[in-house]
Amino acid sequence: MADGNSETKSSNQMWGGRFASGPDAIMEEINASIGFDKKLYAQDIRGSIAHATMLAHQGIISADDKDKIVHGLNTILSEIESGAFEFSRRLEDIHMNIEARLATLIGPAAGRLHTARSRNDQVALDFRLWVKEELQRTEKALTALIAAFLDRAEEHADTVMPGFTHLQTAQPVTFGHHCMAYVEMFGRDRSRVRHAIEHMDESPIGAAALAGTGFPIDRHMTAKALGFAGPTRNSIDTVSDRDFALEFLSMASITATHLSRLAEEIVIWSTPQFGFIRLSDAFSTGSSIMPQKKNPDAAELVRAKTGRINGSLIALLTVMKGLPLAYSKDMQEDKEQVFDSAESLELAIAAMTGMVRDMTIRSDRMKAAAGSGYSTATDLADWLVREAGLPFRDAHHVTGRAVALAEQKGCDLADLSLADLQSIHADITEKVFDVLTVEASVASRTSFGGTAPNEVRKQIAWWRARN
Ligand code: ARG
Repeated sequence: MADGNSETKSSNQMWGGRFASGPDAIMEEINASIGFDKKLYAQDIRGSIAHATMLAHQGIISADDKDKIVHGLNTILSEIESGAFEFSRRLEDIHMNIEARLATLIGPAAGRLHTARSRNDQVALDFRLWVKEELQRTEKALTALIAAFLDRAEEHADTVMPGFTHLQTAQPVTFGHHCMAYVEMFGRDRSRVRHAIEHMDESPIGAAALAGTGFPIDRHMTAKALGFAGPTRNSIDTVSDRDFALEFLSMASITATHLSRLAEEIVIWSTPQFGFIRLSDAFSTGSSIMPQKKNPDAAELVRAKTGRINGSLIALLTVMKGLPLAYSKDMQEDKEQVFDSAESLELAIAAMTGMVRDMTIRSDRMKAAAGSGYSTATDLADWLVREAGLPFRDAHHVTGRAVALAEQKGCDLADLSLADLQSIHADITEKVFDVLTVEASVASRTSFGGTAPNEVRKQIAWWRARN
């Protein structure tokens, strides 16, 4: 038929070859989430079993129907896990894929499962359960990373290295102390993980579409069965809240930022110019053309993953910022951001843990660098205050002249003679040389949290008791 043909032709032109069957195909493609939310299958089934059990307990469905439902859901679980389950994009998402299969397996009883719930509270539940489990995995991964740093810190509590500000040599510190700075950072990340778990520990199921339900459900029962501290208190908030995902992404961004700073230090330290560490072969690569090279690829990739993790946080904040209460389909865009970040973060923490464990610390190189750049100048100034009674500002000035003299002679402060130093200030005695070495410098920094090896050992012990 001429008319029919021209219509087909015009719709093809309009929608393009890819969407040969017209607007329906485009709708299916934009609407479906099964491609990524199939990851939630185990949580979806667990939630449905808890819901059906509660419905039967409350007399809302029969015990017989509940048994059929639970049996059917367990069958589906093994079908999915064995790879036998056929996901259909036409059925949109994981919830409808599972429900449709349940109907095929057990018949009309399947239709009773969705009593007193909606996909809105169902997806909020599934996703929360998934994020909660991911947070628990992150907590373990961070604990392993902290343990790796504690071991290296203990091993190198006495290893002197330059401490930097502006990436300029500032004062000598120990490598153990530097490692413990990362323990503090990842320790804070881990407490953010724990807080996020606490914040999200409420069960959404039973909020239904947004208003709750007239069926006599028991939300405390489902909450308990699913391992939550209790049910959420406002059904409107429950189906429109994605704070748990945002908190996951915020925590992931901050953690990734810490990992990225560490990655940057590893990149710098492993250059031949610094030479503070040697990465193991396992976490570096060679160059296909330059045989001398050993590249810190794993560290560079950790540094780069931070970009996509930060991007996911901004993406979801942007999705959420204009949404009126309660549920809108926009919120379906929450999952890919979280899944992608979770995968990147897990990998980044694991790679960093391996690198920290395996890297060789070149103590000789660290020590040589620690003494250069007049890193004990502050020790000289402090000595003048303590032993010669100078005001700090004057001591700073005298020290500046000593540095200038050493610079002029092309030597370190500790290499100046007593006569040289006395020519700058008459009260300087032989004893000053006790503080001009890097070892003496770090040993003297005994303030709480300072770099003195004994102080660092105390901090290591504090963390060991908490890791
Ligand atoms: N696939 C949806 C999502 O991920 C499930 C909830 C759908 N709810 C709805 N009212 N259409 O958000």
